[in-house]
Amino acid sequence: MAIQWFPGHMNKARKDVAERLKDIDVVIELLDARLPASSANPMLARMAKGKPRLMILNKQDLADPAVTEQWLAWYRARKQTEALGMDAGERAPAQRLIAACRALAPTRGGLEKPLRVLICGIPNVGKSTLINSMSSRKIAKTGNMPGVTKNEQRIILADDFELYDTPGMLWPKIEVEEGGYNLAASGAVGRNAMDEEEVALELLKYLLVHYRAELAARYKFDVEALDGAQDWQALELIGKRRGAVLSGGRINMQKAAEIVLTDFRDGQTGRITLERPEEWLEWEKRAKIL
Ligand code: G4P
Repeated sequence: MAIQWFPGHMNKARKDVAERLKDIDVVIELLDARLPASSANPMLARMAKGKPRLMILNKQDLADPAVTEQWLAWYRARKQTEALGMDAGERAPAQRLIAACRALAPTRGGLEKPLRVLICGIPNVGKSTLINSMSSRKIAKTGNMPGVTKNEQRIILADDFELYDTPGMLWPKIEVEEGGYNLAASGAVGRNAMDEEEVALELLKYLLVHYRAELAARYKFDVEALDGAQDWQALELIGKRRGAVLSGGRINMQKAAEIVLTDFRDGQTGRITLERPEEWLEWEKRAKIL
């Protein structure tokens, strides 16, 4: 079963975002550094085409630093695009964010032409946390301003710098199968839309290739115990190690899956990234063929 998840309200969000984009100079897209491509919203990429873009790889504290560097370089190689890594521990993210946006739109700025920036991201990517950490500055709820959607936030980060929060929810739209699994592993997909055991097995398949030492360390195996292990064998070993055992000694695979997913989401398994740029290109190519 591939993850198929595309909850409602998307048309409304699409219209609101299109309306807002008209007078926006720079689009910031917040991505999850553990799954940058999967956590991007393909609809937004199409709608914001031609606008300068700032990609923020958020939650970088949970991601593999070497792979984050690969992704930053990958995005920076695009036209009119800057990329920054961030995490909730950063004290003053506004400064870096403002500087990057100004560099992307050098002809804007000053009180006559304030720089207008839209910040977007799928739910759970850390948008509220980032906005809150910047909101020692003035946050204006702009429900009564013409042309600004009710509940839309406008954050004045400098006299000539306005940051708009996305009107409505931008849900992920899953176009690549592996991306669906990665979103599910990260916790961005509703529980009802996925089979946790299947998602944990896909996660383990990836970890066995790229993060075997981290997996062994987390569950206190010798790395050799995982040599040649299949995903389901690793899940059984973890279940056994963690006491997820049913009467008769069978492994409780559901429980074991929950342990694997929770540990990954909390960063207990280590700093892990579930996709590399070259892998993503392969997956995308395959998704187009299928
Ligand atoms: P959203 O507005 O985009 O939906 O996301 P939100 O800021 O609510 O963040 C979703 C979860 O991600 C929160 O955890 C938040 O603490 C966590 N988070 C945000 N930024 C970072 C980061 O840079 N690093 C890490 N490690 N976590 C981050 P939660 O479990 O839902 O809530 P709580 O732990 O804050 O109580």
